[in-house]
Amino acid sequence: MPKSRNITWSHSSIKRGERAERNSHRSAILWFTGLSASGKSTLTRLVERALFERGHQTYIMDGDNVRFGLNRDLGFSPDDRTENIRRIGEVAKLMLDAGIIVLTAFISPYRTDRDMNRELVEDGDFIEIFTKCSLEECERRDPKGLYKKARSGEIPEFTGISAPYEEPLHPEIVIETDAGKPEECVAAIIAELEKRSILET
Ligand code: ADX
Repeated sequence: MPKSRNITWSHSSIKRGERAERNSHRSAILWFTGLSASGKSTLTRLVERALFERGHQTYIMDGDNVRFGLNRDLGFSPDDRTENIRRIGEVAKLMLDAGIIVLTAFISPYRTDRDMNRELVEDGDFIEIFTKCSLEECERRDPKGLYKKARSGEIPEFTGISAPYEEPLHPEIVIETDAGKPEECVAAIIAELEKRSILET
């Protein structure tokens, strides 16, 4: 419930369907989740490029980037992570309403937080994409050197090492990023979005 009282919802005169018609595609939230270095940011960038080339309205929200601005007051405690994901869910919902295909790249380690965001929107609008990759492989990639720091104790509460990651139970899409090339992963995601009529074939 909001803290504010005496507030009333103001409805737009533009329907979501009108925006979809103008854009020639419906909007959606493509919610990527997975360990750090599992491929979320790389895949959101490649998928966005593919959608953009098709002339679609797209936007990426990325964990690291959002923590420089909107969520600069949040750290990595369980409560802060939950608030991080809650805010992103609300912003993604606004973008959905604006007719955009939003791609989010957040570890989003807690199932209940991801489910909360799924519940915010209508059935079929929230596509959970699990970038499945073993901890060993993520640690081997370690592009930012963070796993090394987490192992030495320099970074506390690091996902996969000293903080939990709860795998999705029923994600719409699972991409094993240590099993295929990035282009193959992108093709698999696009094909699944076509199958679900998010994209036209
Ligand atoms: S989430 O858990 O709240 O969803 P988010 O996706 O926003 O995390 O941010 C994760 C990114 O922050 C990682 O990719 C990594 O670059 C950086 N990071 C810094 N500290 C941590 C930490 N303790 N646990 C996980 N990621 C961290």
